Amino acid sequence: MPGHWLLASLGKRVLRPGGLALTSRLLRALNIGAKDDVLELAPGLGVTAKMTLARSPRSYTAVERDEKAARGIIRILEGTHNRCVLGTAENTGLPSEAFTTAYGEAMLTIQGAPAKARILEEVRRVLKPGGKYGIHELCIVPDESGEAIRREIEKRLSTGIHVGVQPLVAKEWRQLLESAGFRVLWEERAPMHLLEPKRLIRDEGFFGALRFAFNLLRRPDARKRVAQMRNLFREYRQNLEAIAFVCEKV
Ligand SMILES: C[S@@+](CC[C@H](N)C(=O)[O-])C[C@H]1O[C@@H](n2cnc3c(N)ncnc32)[C@H](O)[C@@H]1O
Repeated sequence: MPGHWLLASLGKRVLRPGGLALTSRLLRALNIGAKDDVLELAPGLGVTAKMTLARSPRSYTAVERDEKAARGIIRILEGTHNRCVLGTAENTGLPSEAFTTAYGEAMLTIQGAPAKARILEEVRRVLKPGGKYGIHELCIVPDESGEAIRREIEKRLSTGIHVGVQPLVAKEWRQLLESAGFRVLWEERAPMHLLEPKRLIRDEGFFGALRFAFNLLRRPDARKRVAQMRNLFREYRQNLEAIAFVCEKV
C-alpha cells in the first residue's frame, strides 16, 4: 500500500509535505474568492477542498484518480457548482479555458518526468489566460545537490513509501513551471515534518493525533512502516523541504 494511503488508513488526513500551514499560505497567495472557478487536482481526503469551499468560489471541481477518495470528496460537496470527477490529472476530460484557478498538492512529486510535463500541459489547457496555478510539493535542497545523493534519495523514498517519488530541486520546479508556459509569482518553503509529533498535532488536531497514535498501537505492521518512513525523512532532513509556488498562465 502506498505510504499516503497507509497514513490515511491510520486516520491521517493531511498528506502533503509542508502541512496545513504551507497550504494556508498557498491558498492566501492564490487569493480564491467568489469570482473564481477552481480546479483541484488530487484532493485526497479533501482537507484543502474544505478550506477552498470556505472561500465560496463560484465553482469547485476536483479530479481524483482514486475511486474511494473521489467518493469521499463527493460526500463533502454541496450545490450544483461543485463536483468531483474520477480521472487523471494528465487527461481531465474538462473543457479548455474553464478555470480561473488550479492547484494540486503532493501529486507532481509522485510522477515521473513525462507525466509531470503532461499534467502541466493539461493544467495550462484548462486555465483561462492569466489563470493562477498553485503547487505544494517535495523539494531537494540545496539546488546544487549532486546526482548521486539525488538518486539515492529517490530510491530510498520510493522503496520506503512504496510509490515512485521524484522530487526536484527548487530551481528545477521553477524551470518546469516556466517551460510549461507559466510565470512564477510566489514561492515559499516549509520544513518536511510530515511525521514529526509537533506537526502531527498541528495538522490533525490534538484528538486527531491521539487517534493516529492509538491506531499505530493497534497495528504493529503499520507502526513499523510509519517508523521506517519517519526515520527516512529524518535521515535526509538536510536534503528535504516542502516547497510551494503560485504562477500564472502566460
Ligand atoms: C500524497 S496524496 C496527496 C493528497 C492531497 N492532495 C493531500 O495533500 O493531502 C496523492 C494523491 O494524488 C492522487 N493522484 C496521484 N496521481 C494522480 C493523477 N495522475 N491524477 C489524479 N490524481 C492522482 C492520489 O490518488 C492521492 O489522492
